[in-house]
Amino acid sequence: MPPRARLLAAAGYLPADVVTNDELAARHGLDTSDAWIAERTGIRQRHFAAPGETASAMGAEAARRALALAGVPGEEVDLVIVATSTPDSAFPATAARIHAAIGATRGFAFDLAAACTGFIYALGVADSLLRTGAARCALVIGTEVYSRILDWTDRSTCVLFGDGAGAVLLRAESPDGPGILSTHLHADGRQADILTVDGGAGSTGGTGVVRMQGREVFRHAVTKLAAVVDEALAANGFTHADVSWLVPHQANLRIIEGMGRKLHLPPERVVVTVDRHANTSAASIPLALAEAWADGRIRPGDLVLMEAIGGGLTWGAAIARM
Ligand code: UT7
Repeated sequence: MPPRARLLAAAGYLPADVVTNDELAARHGLDTSDAWIAERTGIRQRHFAAPGETASAMGAEAARRALALAGVPGEEVDLVIVATSTPDSAFPATAARIHAAIGATRGFAFDLAAACTGFIYALGVADSLLRTGAARCALVIGTEVYSRILDWTDRSTCVLFGDGAGAVLLRAESPDGPGILSTHLHADGRQADILTVDGGAGSTGGTGVVRMQGREVFRHAVTKLAAVVDEALAANGFTHADVSWLVPHQANLRIIEGMGRKLHLPPERVVVTVDRHANTSAASIPLALAEAWADGRIRPGDLVLMEAIGGGLTWGAAIARM
């Protein structure tokens, strides 16, 4: 039997600058209000990276914290996957910079682009590589500086996002032990234009800014997340009653609460950070997982269900035994 990818530790990093809804509106002269943002999204504040603070710097800090929690030296890591839409540069991969920053010298490192689903995609790819023996010890990192790709004149998008990083350390261990049970990844490129960055190195030569048809994305989120969660449970012979924790992508509290109700989970079994972090895209799930694991909510033996949807469209789910 192939090994199972065990989650050894998770850790996050949030930049120091905390910006409330009112402060954001004042900074950018936005025609919005704390009441609108909080009611429609659940967001109350977000963290923004300092000038010069990069995706690799934040991701490396989250990775170092995860390694320290697990007591694993960086040299043991032989796979680094970074999910990001805001890499330091087109190349080298942000993952290569983090590979060096943690003191890894073996194995391989690459970035993966699946927008807000990036962490679930990266977890799925890492799980496959650990199962086949291509790697033994993996860091899966989501790290984002969306503050650099927002249009500050578009109140319908710029109030939604924040910066941060989260890292999960995985090791190939016993096939019967805890770890990733399954991952379920999907894409529909026909919906590419409803959530997109309107530029890039290979098209405009610039970075572009986030453009979103919010209502359309919301509609897809509700149906596609419900379907992928059912798919993940069915693949493992579970029902909603088996789920200990829902750790969802943090885009909108209304979507998160809707998924909790679908799974018949009481609100205290759904991990929520969107109020404090806003949408940190690929970093949101590892940040939420790290928080709930660190404060003792998530315990050994718990069944954790993770799900996300984002640009692509991409969406997916993962189930792990802790
Ligand atoms: O992370 C990737 C996945 N992303 C998501 O899952 C996001 C999914 N979408 C959403 O979360 C929601 O669609 C939003 C939070 C983005 C928007 O909420 P909504 O309830 O769908 O609002 P809306 O776009 O339908 O806009 C309602 C009204 C509009 O005014 P009119 O046309 O009704 O007069 C907007 O112009 O709210 C207005 N509006 C704002 N008002 C104050 C839009 N943004 C703002 C704002 N402040 N920041």
